[in-house]
Amino acid sequence: MSEMLERTQAMLAKHHRHGENFAQLMKDTFAGRFNEEFWVAWGKWIEPVLSVSPMVLDLGSGPGLFLRALAERYPGARAIGVECAPYMLEAMGTLPPGCEVIPADLHDPHLPLADNSVDAAIASVVLHELNQPVRVLREVRRCLKQGGRFYVLDWVRAPLDLYVRNETSEQKVFDPATPLDELEDIFTHFIEHNRFSRDDLVYLLECSGFAVLDNTPLREGQFARLVAEKK
Ligand SMILES: C[S@@+](CC[C@H](N)C(=O)[O-])C[C@H]1O[C@@H](n2cnc3c(N)ncnc32)[C@H](O)[C@@H]1O
Repeated sequence: MSEMLERTQAMLAKHHRHGENFAQLMKDTFAGRFNEEFWVAWGKWIEPVLSVSPMVLDLGSGPGLFLRALAERYPGARAIGVECAPYMLEAMGTLPPGCEVIPADLHDPHLPLADNSVDAAIASVVLHELNQPVRVLREVRRCLKQGGRFYVLDWVRAPLDLYVRNETSEQKVFDPATPLDELEDIFTHFIEHNRFSRDDLVYLLECSGFAVLDNTPLREGQFARLVAEKK
């Protein structure tokens, strides 16, 4: 295993706190993330560029439920996940026909996919987990067809009080009895979930050769949806 992959897996194991539980959490919360509002936006921004048997790339595919949803929705599609956390690969189980996963590190991916071959790509709650997203943005652009689209959903910078209210509680944060390691964990996650602003994501996408078509704040501004097109 490369040194980079080892570092990435260790960093993710810490960020996800407990791998198997986090994989289960991603399954349990899937329907909330990929809800009616998601599919309406997907229908508006992504569906128009999908070919009859589309190739769709799902970066950081977690336990693979979106890959399965794609295969069900688009018979004949090739739904390709990229993932490197062992507990996520394990939680995927046997994927149905039409789905596959490339075990690779998104910090510097060299995917076995031809230039200009992919109809659309998605990164759902993934970019904030990367030390840097520059290489993966370049790789997505390489793989996408001209006019292919990239759907990004992620945490973006938001005030601490909102984060505390939604992710933990003021009582816990400000109670002198809260153990130090719990406090550190809360504040470390706050920083990790506040990596980029929406403007930062636009900047990263534009500098990587995309035109941003949609840029929408979600969940009180804690999240954002961006849709970008390969120029
Ligand atoms: C918060 S989960 C989201 C999973 C899925 N996209 C969803 O929305 O249900 C982020 C996923 O990205 C994966 N990931 C993060 N950094 C990665 C990297 N450098 N290489 C490959 N996968 C990565 C994690 O292992 C995890 O499965």
